[in-house]
Amino acid sequence: MISTQIPSIAVIGGSGFYSFLDDVEHHEVSTPYGAPSAAIAVGSVGGRSVAFVPRHGLHHEFPPHAINYRANIWALRSLGVRRVLAPCAVGGLSVDVAPGDLVVPDQLVDRTTSRTQTFYDSGAVHAPFADPYCPELREALLARAGGRREAATMVVIEGPRFSSRAESKSYAAAGWSLVNMTGHPEAVLARELGLCYATLALVTDLDAGVDAAGAVHQGAVFATFAQHIDRMKQALSGVIADLGEHADCTCADWLADVALPFDLP
Ligand code: ADE
Repeated sequence: MISTQIPSIAVIGGSGFYSFLDDVEHHEVSTPYGAPSAAIAVGSVGGRSVAFVPRHGLHHEFPPHAINYRANIWALRSLGVRRVLAPCAVGGLSVDVAPGDLVVPDQLVDRTTSRTQTFYDSGAVHAPFADPYCPELREALLARAGGRREAATMVVIEGPRFSSRAESKSYAAAGWSLVNMTGHPEAVLARELGLCYATLALVTDLDAGVDAAGAVHQGAVFATFAQHIDRMKQALSGVIADLGEHADCTCADWLADVALPFDLP
């Protein structure tokens, strides 16, 4: 790669996050899984080298079920990334959250149906996933996002449609707080390559089961996201400034006994 700095931190988020980086270079990375959502942008944030991939593509051409999650994570890891910050939009499943809230989920439930969720297509390799998110990144996000500290479980649905009221109510009744379409398999694929990974969730709407009169419409979701993206960028810049050079967690430890399915730098 051309950049003199290896990006050890990455952001996967909406294309609105591009302006987050200074001095950007683009890297076309080919992967064993096909192309990532776009060329990987590598630039600096507060003097630190950071990689960025727009999750849905440059022009939002990839809906949640069509994102090449494996290619995105592999491409970042191949450039040297060890930590991934993953801002996303979520619906709230109760009136305990409100549009505009920033939440750092601590648990995830997979309700997707069609997505490849592993790099390990042969052999007995079972990633630990009891705690899907890196505790160090979560703490750093909580400190900068000014977000809620309570436990928050995010259920990831297949989409691309929003949930029916009955589905939404069933998620809330299960005790889950947030609903989203992109958080999985991104989180587990990061874990499979030993990357630290955490999500910064912006509540863009109250889901259909909460608001008896209303329904979720994408225009409102996009508008609320756009309204708050600067707060998210500010929080992420703060986190990037706060993180030490080396991770102080165990996210990569499980790979000590596992052969990666390919050579990585
Ligand atoms: N992303 C943002 N709002 C959402 C909702 N209500 N359901 C699923 N994904 C979302």
